[in-house]
Amino acid sequence: MWEKVQQTVEYIKNKTGFTPEYGVILGSGLGGFAEDITIEHSLPYHEIPNFPVSTVAGHKGRLIFGTVGSKKVVAMQGRFHYYEGYSMQEVTFPVRVMKHLGVRRLIVSNASGGVNPYYHVGDIVIIYDHINLMPEHPLRGKNDERFGPRFVNMSEPYSRNMINKAKEVAKNLNIEVKDGIYLGLQGPTFETLSEYRMVKTLGADCVGMSTVPEVIVARHMDMECFGVSVITDMGNEDTIAEVNHEEVLQAAKKAEPKVRTLIAELIKAY
Ligand code: HPA
Repeated sequence: MWEKVQQTVEYIKNKTGFTPEYGVILGSGLGGFAEDITIEHSLPYHEIPNFPVSTVAGHKGRLIFGTVGSKKVVAMQGRFHYYEGYSMQEVTFPVRVMKHLGVRRLIVSNASGGVNPYYHVGDIVIIYDHINLMPEHPLRGKNDERFGPRFVNMSEPYSRNMINKAKEVAKNLNIEVKDGIYLGLQGPTFETLSEYRMVKTLGADCVGMSTVPEVIVARHMDMECFGVSVITDMGNEDTIAEVNHEEVLQAAKKAEPKVRTLIAELIKAY
């Protein structure tokens, strides 16, 4: 893994000469953030050695390098999901590459199903903690100390400082945000009614199929993380509607302008 990461980093450095400080992973329907970046380089995943290739509709699959204000950013337009068949090591490979390109702060976005009764479709939720119920762990196996320690402290997976700054930024911009705990399941099925109830009972506010592995690996390498989720459907027994991928994308698209602005202004301000 170490050698692969170094090889990929070297390829990207040779190609771009770019040293990003911020990494951004753009979730379903949220890829428009790319337009907020003054793009200097763009690399399709299939051109990057060792990179997996995205298979989900709505995911473009490229790495974008550029600036947001004065900050240097690398953004993943399209991410890799465990349910696509990738191993957890493949899912999180780009995060390792980002770290070794120079990224210290990672911003992750996603679409999720809400189980908190105070949520509504279209809500923007700042993730302050997560519950990992994915069936495989990205750090399982022999630990490579060059990346990070065997046992990773997860008392603050999502940076308090970044959360506070994001809330301040949101307030100034008049963007309503909520906060919550994200629970990660493998998918690709959406939850049954009983599973949504389980998610709620376990103490989470929303549920999705990404983010958790990436944040775990980022914390392994001591990156500062920020997570934001768009509630694209509600898994409440009373209000549950039949959810499909198209609706998820549409709901995410609707919230996109606000999420984009929040991420861009957070990067400028933090
Ligand atoms: N469940 C899991 N993942 C999701 C959902 C959901 O309801 N909505 C968007 N991603």
